[in-house]
Amino acid sequence: MRLTSATAAALTALSSIRLANAHCYIWGVYVNGLDQGTFRAIRTPAYNGPPPRGYANSPVKDLDSIDLRCNVLGDKQVPDTIQVQPGDNLTFDWHHDKRTSTDDVIASSHVGPAMVYISPDPPGENTFVKIWEEGKYEEGAQPLAPGKWATTEDIAANHGHMNVRIPAGLKPGHYLIRAEMVGLHEADVAYDKNPMRGAQFYPNCVQIEVVGNGTVELPTGVSFPGAYQYSDPGIVYDVYCSTKTKTTAPCTTTYQIPGPTVWSGAWKGTTEVELGPISGPTTATRWSSWIERSIVTTATLVDNSVEIVATSSYVASWSTTYATPTPASQPPL
Ligand SMILES: *[C@@H]1O[C@H](CO)[C@@H](O)[C@H](O)[C@H]1NC(C)=O
Ligand SMILES: *[C@@H]1O[C@H](CO)[C@@H](O)[C@H](O)[C@H]1NC(C)=O
Repeated sequence: MRLTSATAAALTALSSIRLANAHCYIWGVYVNGLDQGTFRAIRTPAYNGPPPRGYANSPVKDLDSIDLRCNVLGDKQVPDTIQVQPGDNLTFDWHHDKRTSTDDVIASSHVGPAMVYISPDPPGENTFVKIWEEGKYEEGAQPLAPGKWATTEDIAANHGHMNVRIPAGLKPGHYLIRAEMVGLHEADVAYDKNPMRGAQFYPNCVQIEVVGNGTVELPTGVSFPGAYQYSDPGIVYDVYCSTKTKTTAPCTTTYQIPGPTVWSGAWKGTTEVELGPISGPTTATRWSSWIERSIVTTATLVDNSVEIVATSSYVASWSTTYATPTPASQPPL
């Protein structure tokens, strides 16, 4: 099927409704400062919606959705796996439109916490262990969203860099790292009360293999979905409520990060590493497929019109045993 330009314009109008969302995801992973390659080993979220904004992933807002685990299509393995050792310093490179230092990373309104979990691959019940978190880390003068927040004032301000260290002595094996940014700009009400609003979750998973001779096993963790509840104080939270601007209602100035506490076996604090050059492209393929209401559409852009190659319906299916990913038919970018 080839869409006419009128249809394409309608699609453009439709997709522009999503402009308010931030769409950030991980574009690359550095291990001890060495870039592993753009999109390599990353289960990049499905593109949501037709072009021209087709590479924008929409947030997950339904806390009961399987998409909260590793985002839309997060059950799909990618060909490569990044090898790491216990103690290695990882830097996740989060971006919005492009992998450059001028990219905005996440909209400045999208204040919120950021978290990193690790789970054996494949994950199951109670396998995700939190190894890093940051929420509102300082009071701030900004009138509309008082406080300094992980997503905007730390990660976006640091060109999208999120740092975490592989736990000391971690037993060799295949793991998934689930890194997450959360936008609280519409979180004054729960999604199950008002689906137009609610906290916006941007989880993204990376396939790693821990090598070495460690013996430390992960403790019991949490499940995704399952770890977050609409009744959690960090899920419904009014970021605009400020004791500086509001006198009628009491405001909570502290923020409780959702999910479990950070595992005692994780490293304390984060390590900033000097980063080498980016290996691979700094732009994404503009779009090739998208998923809406469980229908995956794959398309190509031919002479500026959208040519639909295939559609299929999609139901996430997570394996319960580890399978070696199918290698890429082409070398990684
Ligand atoms: C990770 O960073 C810490 C703190 O800077 C450093 O001591 C350690 O050697 C780094 N690990 C590796 C494997 O480079
Ligand atoms: C474990 O591995 C590290 C680095 O790979 C090595 O330095 C150390 O000697 C090894 N320990 C044992 C007990 O094999």
